[in-house]
Amino acid sequence: MSTYYIDETAGSDTPGNGTESSPYQSLAFAIFTHGDVKLLIRKDPNTPYDEPTQSSLKKAKKGAEGLEKKRKKADEQAEREAKEKAADREKREKLLEESKKIQLTEDASLPEATKAKIVHLAPLRSKRVRVRGWVHRLRDQKGIMFIVLRDGTGYLQCVLSGVVAKTYEALTLTIESTVELTGTLQSVPEGKTAPGGHELTVDYWKVLGAAPGAEDAFTNRLNEKSDPSILADLRHLVIRGETASTVLRLRAAMLSAFRDSYAAHSLTEVTPPCMVQTQVEGGATLFKFDYYGQPAFLTQSSQLYLETCLPALGDVFCVQESFRAENSHTRRHLSEYTHLEAELGFIDFNDLMTHIEAIICETVDRLLVNESTAALIKQLNPSFKAPSRPFLRLSYVDAIKWLNEHNILHPKEDAEGNEVKDAEGKAIMVEHEVGDDIAEAAERQMTDIIGTPVFLYGFPAELKAFYMKKMKSPEGVDSKHVFTESCDLLMPGVGEIVGGSMRISDSDELIAAYKREGIDPSPYYWYTDQRKYGTCEHGGYGLGVERLLAWLANRYTVRECSLYPRWPGRATP
Ligand code: 4AD
Repeated sequence: MSTYYIDETAGSDTPGNGTESSPYQSLAFAIFTHGDVKLLIRKDPNTPYDEPTQSSLKKAKKGAEGLEKKRKKADEQAEREAKEKAADREKREKLLEESKKIQLTEDASLPEATKAKIVHLAPLRSKRVRVRGWVHRLRDQKGIMFIVLRDGTGYLQCVLSGVVAKTYEALTLTIESTVELTGTLQSVPEGKTAPGGHELTVDYWKVLGAAPGAEDAFTNRLNEKSDPSILADLRHLVIRGETASTVLRLRAAMLSAFRDSYAAHSLTEVTPPCMVQTQVEGGATLFKFDYYGQPAFLTQSSQLYLETCLPALGDVFCVQESFRAENSHTRRHLSEYTHLEAELGFIDFNDLMTHIEAIICETVDRLLVNESTAALIKQLNPSFKAPSRPFLRLSYVDAIKWLNEHNILHPKEDAEGNEVKDAEGKAIMVEHEVGDDIAEAAERQMTDIIGTPVFLYGFPAELKAFYMKKMKSPEGVDSKHVFTESCDLLMPGVGEIVGGSMRISDSDELIAAYKREGIDPSPYYWYTDQRKYGTCEHGGYGLGVERLLAWLANRYTVRECSLYPRWPGRATP
């Protein structure tokens, strides 16, 4: 007879197997599993194995009977469930077989249906309509099918009952399939809600493009738990979602509102090239490529071209992609972004900031007075309030003081720009000094504490691009610094959304600036000509569309505000 071992402390019923090296934990389990066998038991590994006492055997036998009963019950339950499943399957197969015999035909005696987009349905209530779109949501309630249809213009609740819910197509319908639904549009009964306040009672319908079910079903490819890299790979499917599509819709409305604001200020829209042979914001962030054997770049900014438009068209603006080869993985940097830029002639620095403030506020106002765009903002950013004017203006020098007063420090750097660490390897933090570039973290902390839009202006020339007009040094400030008529507009939660400046209007001064920056002036002949043939005081700015949208729609990152965002390592889809 084989012997089985039980260790009441160190043993385990499962996955134990009753051998000396892997003993069971309970006597009852050993009896339940092996019946009448030789058993040896011990209290713990420090006690020797011994035969069980009569009384403990008796107790254990009772326990084993209980276990046997439990097993039987579980077996019966499993059998019942298997039977039920099989019956369900059979029932469904029968139903599917039956359903194949049902062929829907449109009832010719019904009034003719009007084909319409969901957004245009309200005037068609109580009429027969035909809509096409994607199955956004699907629910079966006791043989009645509820479809939420999405056609890109809106959502429509559709109800299928009776024969239209019994066809093979109805029984096998999956979300994201395309369908055409025809029926009568009815106001929803009192106390019920549906998008648009109406629903479609379907009398005829068909599937136009079935989406897969089972393993390849939409919800298996993408759901709330998908990790960020999957979401990035499947951006083409993500944009079908309610939030992502609302952000894109608001983006379209925002650009349209900007165009209206510019029209009201008599700025003309132009479309400058993306392929260029001059830099604007420094060589470090240029994407270079081969252009018929010549070096060329993807544009960083259309500013220089806009400047050339002033004598031709007056004040101008553009909505153009800009490209930055920055190895920044922050939530506000993209490698390609939509750049809204404007240029204005015969203005001064104060006019420039007043104009930027006016364009942004008027655009936000336009979005808020329009009921449908206001609803998009409310959906994404319920607590959004239009900023009040005028925006706070804080000079760069005062900002440095402000940061130090608020104990917002920055890591100390050596001459090569490397962080200096203390004995424990921690970065040594030091106060800001005039001449320091205010880092993103410090800038964001400051904006968030202030809590309103802030114009930061008058940056030192060495921190800014070659084309910026110099400003007289503020009184009492160390004269070793030359400041510029430049401004960044900072928004709470996002940081810098606009960078602008007055431009050097004097030809000689511009040539000196090329030299200082080590820029070969020859490819810039057209830009220099601007100062030669009738110069004027002028200035402009660039606004990051995705950043403004992130602020307006309360998005965590600008990546959510671009149709197909690009960042280091990502250019797909
Ligand atoms: O401050 P920036 O570099 O200014 C210029 O390019 C000027 N030439 C514009 C002009 O005066 N016409 O960029 C302007 C704005 C920034 O404030 C920011 O909103 C956005 O462009 N921006 C970016 N947005 C997303 N990803 C990036 N990598 C960005 N770099 C700049």
